[in-house]
Amino acid sequence: MNSFAKKVIATVLTAAMAFSFAACSTKSEGMTIEEGKLIMATNAFFPPYEYYEGETITGIDAEIAQAVADKLGLELVIEDVSFDSIIAGVQSGKYDIGCAGMTVTESRLQSVNFTSTYATGIQSVIVAEGSEITDVDTLLAGDYIVGVQSGTTGDIYMSSSVEDGGVGEDRVDRYARGNDAVVALMSGKVDAVVIDNEPAKAFVAANEGLTILDTAYAEEDYAMAINKDNQELLDAVNGALAELEADGTLDAIITKYIPAES
Ligand code: ARG
Repeated sequence: MNSFAKKVIATVLTAAMAFSFAACSTKSEGMTIEEGKLIMATNAFFPPYEYYEGETITGIDAEIAQAVADKLGLELVIEDVSFDSIIAGVQSGKYDIGCAGMTVTESRLQSVNFTSTYATGIQSVIVAEGSEITDVDTLLAGDYIVGVQSGTTGDIYMSSSVEDGGVGEDRVDRYARGNDAVVALMSGKVDAVVIDNEPAKAFVAANEGLTILDTAYAEEDYAMAINKDNQELLDAVNGALAELEADGTLDAIITKYIPAES
C-alpha cells in the first residue's frame, strides 16, 4: 500500500471515530436494552444504598443512578431482584446496569465490566450484644454459624476455608436478603452476620440487642456492572459519573445518607 492510500485510510478512520464519538455524546440509539430507558437491577434491602420507602426504592444507588440517567437523557427503571441474579441478568442482556452496592471483584470482572468506583464499603460483623464473639479471630476459630446474604462478598469470604480467612461452607447460612440474615441472628439461628458496614449500621440501628464488632473484615470498592459488549454504555455512564463527581453531586448524595462522622 502506498503512503497516500495509508493516509486516506487513516483519515477515514479518524473521521469514523470522530463520528462515533459525536454519536455517543448525544442521545445515541440502541445503547440501552429499551430505547430511552436505563434498566437497573438491584436488591432493595440494603440500606442506605437501596431500600423501600413505601413503594419507592430510594437510597444512594437509586439517587446516583437517577442522576446518571438524567445526564444521559434516559428514564431510570429500577428492578428489585435477588442479589445473586444481578450479574447473570446484566450478562444476558436483561438489565442495563447492576447497581446494588456491588463490590468490584476479580471473579465478577470475568462476567461483566464495572464502571468507575463511586463508593467504598467494608465488611463488618454483627453479633448479639453480650456475645462471646468479640473479634473476628474468635468468630473464625470457633464453631459459630455465620449468616450472609447469598452471593455477596460476605458469603464468598466466609464460605472460603479457614486458611483463606473464612469459616468454610458448612458454617455459612445463606439468606436471600441481608435483613433475613439479621432476623436469623436475632432468633439465635446464626451467631453472627457478615455484611457491608453501612447496611450493618442501619440494621443494628433498626433492631435492638445487636452490635457491630470493631474489627473491619475487608475493604471494597462499589461500582455498577455493565454488559461486557456494551462499551458505549460503559463510557457514557463513566462520563456521567465523572461529571457528577466533579460538580459535587456524588458527595452530596452520599453525605445525605451517610453523614460524616463527627
Ligand atoms: N458489597 C457486597 C457485594 O457486592 C454486598 C452487596 C449487596 N447488595 C444488595 N443490594 N443487597 O457482594
